[in-house]
Amino acid sequence: MSNPTVAVLFGGRSVEHEVSVITGHQTMDALDQAGFPSLPIYITKQGDWYAGEGLHNLDLYREQTFHAAGLKNVYRVSLSPDRSVRQLVVHPAATGGLLQKSPKLWADVFFPVVHGTHGEDGSLQGLFELADVPYVGSGILASAIGMDKVRTKRILEQAGIPTLDCLELSRAEWEADPDAVAIRVETKFRYPVMVKPVCLGSSIGVSSCADRPALREAIDLALELDGRALVEEALTDFIEINCSVMGPPERASACEQPIRSESVLSFDDKYRHGGKKLGRGQAESAGMAGLARQVPAPIGEALTRQVKRLAVEAFRAIDASGVVRVDFLYEASKRRLLLNEINTTPGSLSYYLWEEEGVRFDQLVSMLIGIALDRHESRRATVYSFSANLLTR
Ligand SMILES: Nc1ncnc2c1ncn2[C@@H]1O[C@H](COP(=O)(O)OP(=O)(O)O)[C@@H](O)[C@H]1O
Ligand SMILES: [Mg+2]
Repeated sequence: MSNPTVAVLFGGRSVEHEVSVITGHQTMDALDQAGFPSLPIYITKQGDWYAGEGLHNLDLYREQTFHAAGLKNVYRVSLSPDRSVRQLVVHPAATGGLLQKSPKLWADVFFPVVHGTHGEDGSLQGLFELADVPYVGSGILASAIGMDKVRTKRILEQAGIPTLDCLELSRAEWEADPDAVAIRVETKFRYPVMVKPVCLGSSIGVSSCADRPALREAIDLALELDGRALVEEALTDFIEINCSVMGPPERASACEQPIRSESVLSFDDKYRHGGKKLGRGQAESAGMAGLARQVPAPIGEALTRQVKRLAVEAFRAIDASGVVRVDFLYEASKRRLLLNEINTTPGSLSYYLWEEEGVRFDQLVSMLIGIALDRHESRRATVYSFSANLLTR
């Protein structure tokens, strides 16, 4: 049997749009190497879907706005939630309202690499479930939990996995009485504290605060980007350790220690350093693969084992699938290892951590497609109807 055609979805209505464009191109290059035909699907910042081979070209995404006009064999498309369609259709706006399947747009498996909102949060996964198509990565639940930093903590606490306690704030309560909120924070924590939007990534809106004015500013910023923010203790003397997990069956990768240029690992640390050439296009940034890091993390065998064990436990606790990256904070002076967050669509799919384990990127994408097809097969074996005949007269 020939290899399935893989639709790679990238971009999206998310502040991590550009990062996703880079991950998308890295993934398509890896699929090329693995011998899988791929169909690029670009989701614009406004949420429009375009599909067609010509979209595998980084030069198209360098301007603020994307221009589809003039691109050959690129179609505005949509995926119907009606499972009898089970395929991409040319967008009704382009066909006068008719749903039109196009053989050129055929995809056997969907491979979403849309980071953040409307991609990594379970919404896209919900569409794939309704359409009844195989897709790579975590399902609705794990994606939604991984996106929500507070819900992730609650589940980790239940699973006995150490994480920092936090306070959750809503925009409504902040707007109603900022002083009362500040007092609640100060009653629970001593400065410095960390403020983050609950459902965001790439360090956007994350700040460390040493006093009340900084706290106000940080909460204002976080709540501009998300309807909810969290506050937790800010660590001052710590390192970060990340580990990827793939499965099922679960398997942990090598660990990395990212190198920070400031006290917080910033957006620039993650994406603006260490650019290298990427496949057909040339990028200034290599996405998450460009971060300065030490792999394997120089943390000794015992700690490495502990990180890998907790990473696999966390993967299971949220019922993840595909490939994730689990991020930890470690305070050496207290020997305190804390799970910080789980990324269910990790930047660059963490391929650089798997290379260290002897798994090439093309092998990684093949394995992920295998996992996706197996999961779809086993879901199909589930019975979804039950003849209770409640409505029969
Ligand atoms: N509690 C904390 N104390 C100190 N630094 C932190 C803390 N939490 C996060 N950071 C720093 O902020 C960065 C971004 O926070 P993180 O929780 O990973 O959010 P994101 O999803 O945006 O990556 C981390 O990589 C780390 O450098
Ligand atoms: Mg992070």
